[in-house]
Amino acid sequence: LRTGRGVAHAKVILFGEHAVVHGEPAIALPIDALGVHATAAHVPGDLTVRSSLYTGPLADAPDLMSAPRAVVHATLDRLGLPHRDIAITVIGDVPHARGLGSSAAVAGALVRALADHAGQPLDEATYLELVDVGEKVAHGTPSGLDARATAASQPVWFEAGVARRLATRMTAVLVVADSGHAGRTRHAVGSVASFLERHPVRGAALIAGLGALAHGAALDLAADRPSQVGEKMTTAQGMLRELGVSSPELDVLVDAAMAAGALGAKLTGGGQGGCVIALVRDVAEADAVGTALRAAGAVAVWHHPIGPDTED
Ligand code: MEV
Repeated sequence: LRTGRGVAHAKVILFGEHAVVHGEPAIALPIDALGVHATAAHVPGDLTVRSSLYTGPLADAPDLMSAPRAVVHATLDRLGLPHRDIAITVIGDVPHARGLGSSAAVAGALVRALADHAGQPLDEATYLELVDVGEKVAHGTPSGLDARATAASQPVWFEAGVARRLATRMTAVLVVADSGHAGRTRHAVGSVASFLERHPVRGAALIAGLGALAHGAALDLAADRPSQVGEKMTTAQGMLRELGVSSPELDVLVDAAMAAGALGAKLTGGGQGGCVIALVRDVAEADAVGTALRAAGAVAVWHHPIGPDTED
């Protein structure tokens, strides 16, 4: 048995978080500058893990490791490997619980490292099913978007459980800012469900509205219309706020980005904490918006250039 290696990366959801759980489409972008790397080596003894969150026997890991633990167990069962004699390491720079897909990226890197260790390449459906084992533990009813986006190398259009590559001709920069507050995806998914129960008509209109924004944004991305994409981001933020998945810290960051000249800004991912994204035209604007975001409380800021990505 060789030392297996696996990688996956962060993602941002540009449009459609939460609405995607209720059947609407979503657009996600891979952020490959932020990665997770896992290794799985043959070491006789307990099944162990070494990571920034926990180091020791996997069986004794605290609750915070329950999603990766479930993924490891399910993957070993699928590969027909015993739950011992493996030392796993996980390192990465995807911040934990910030809406950037860290749980799916860690799961993806683990699944790939274990499959590589066993010398058994997995087909895509099996990979996604195993990553989703962890996503279910992490937040109950995952749409499957994060599992796909953290494995994709191109922008993703995700609808009805199916991911496809999204062609874009847009040139812009996405500024990603970490509020420093942990996102609460499971809780936020519950907040949306309860909004839909309490206000069925308004709730359905908001979910459909978020879906319509994703459809419109796909056209804007294909036609290189960054200001329209930005406007739709800000509209989406208003809808997400009404659904109860923003937070005071996120609202402050969105307002700061807009005041500094962003074309649009919104939360990304599960919300109620985590990150905001702001769209700007170029690196100079990204610097100005990044500075404003830091002044407004962001603890980390990344620039993610968006370039044309077409098949031709
Ligand atoms: C979390 O990154 C995205 C959500 O839409 C949940 C999901 O799609 O499973 C909030």
